[in-house]
Amino acid sequence: MKVAVLGAAGGIGQALALLLKTQLPAGSKLSLYDIAPVTPGVAVDLSHIPTDVEVKGFAGEDPTAALVDADVVLMSAGVARKPGMDRSDLFNINAGIVRNLMEKVAVTCPKALVGIITNPVNTTVAIAAEVLKNAGVYDKNRLFGITTLDVIRSETFIAELKGVNVADVNINVIGGHSGVTILPLLSQVEGVSFTDEEVAALTKRIQNAGTEVVEAKAGGGSATLSMGQAACRFGLSLVRGLQGEANVVECAYVDGGSEHAEFFAQPVVLGKNGVEKVLPYGEISAFEANARDAMLDTLKGDIKLGVEFVK
Ligand code: NAD
Ligand code: LMR
Repeated sequence: MKVAVLGAAGGIGQALALLLKTQLPAGSKLSLYDIAPVTPGVAVDLSHIPTDVEVKGFAGEDPTAALVDADVVLMSAGVARKPGMDRSDLFNINAGIVRNLMEKVAVTCPKALVGIITNPVNTTVAIAAEVLKNAGVYDKNRLFGITTLDVIRSETFIAELKGVNVADVNINVIGGHSGVTILPLLSQVEGVSFTDEEVAALTKRIQNAGTEVVEAKAGGGSATLSMGQAACRFGLSLVRGLQGEANVVECAYVDGGSEHAEFFAQPVVLGKNGVEKVLPYGEISAFEANARDAMLDTLKGDIKLGVEFVK
């Protein structure tokens, strides 16, 4: 397996690369790319960790060398939020970065599974899809918006609130990855129950968790370490699916034929070709159904912005 990280010298990229170096299966290759000149040095640094994962680093304007033969591409290249900004404020800079990198992916490793981290995810995934369509290589089963951070935050906050072992908490988070489009399905969590007030407060906290970190870092960026962990979990799940492991399930923002929007985060089974099966997200509460319906205009608007950007 070869995994390429684009944006590898950044806060997420370095954390992710470290986790992948220590957790990818033996014999894997890790390819790091960033415009920052330090990137080959990041690779040398990681290469001293004694695991059977070969690391190479590439810097400069062209990611091609890093993408050759990649099975999985994880993209965190771009700018992050500062206090007072929404994720959508990143569109002006990040849209072009994602488009340009995806043009290289389309030519160099069109069969790779691509996980997009770069914000605004609701829009950047639509941009990536349009670029792949224009190149004639779009496969909806191979493109993912990574929403795993919403899942691990939900698991953590639920365990804290209810005093249960976090390892026992499983939750689906559906919709997208910003504000009201993040919808944790608290009603489905087994072994715990919530009052209406707890549901409202916890949903809001999960939706605003990115801003919680942005404000706490006070101008120093957004979530990097927790996102590194989330992207590693998702990237390893992609690899496990590619290697033929059964029942690998993650929530992700995909073009999965949802009745709600062209792209929608929901649970999917991962396999040798990416999405093997889109799973129904199951029964939801009246509160969740209202929240789902209320998010759709925002989500569809975010997607439209991405489609129109490429056109
Ligand atoms: P960062 O500034 O620390 O790192 C970004 C890196 O991207 C930098 O090293 C920069 O040199 C590199 N870069 C910029 N343009 C590039 C290009 N054209 N090609 C290659 N590399 C390029 O930022 P970060 O904290 O790592 O965040 C990265 C992105 O991830 C942001 O857009 C942020 O909003 C997003 N993010 C998403 C999630 C999520 O849940 N999906 C979570 C946290 C952050
Ligand atoms: C997050 O959820 O932490 C990321 O999307 C970064 C951000 O800007 O909030």
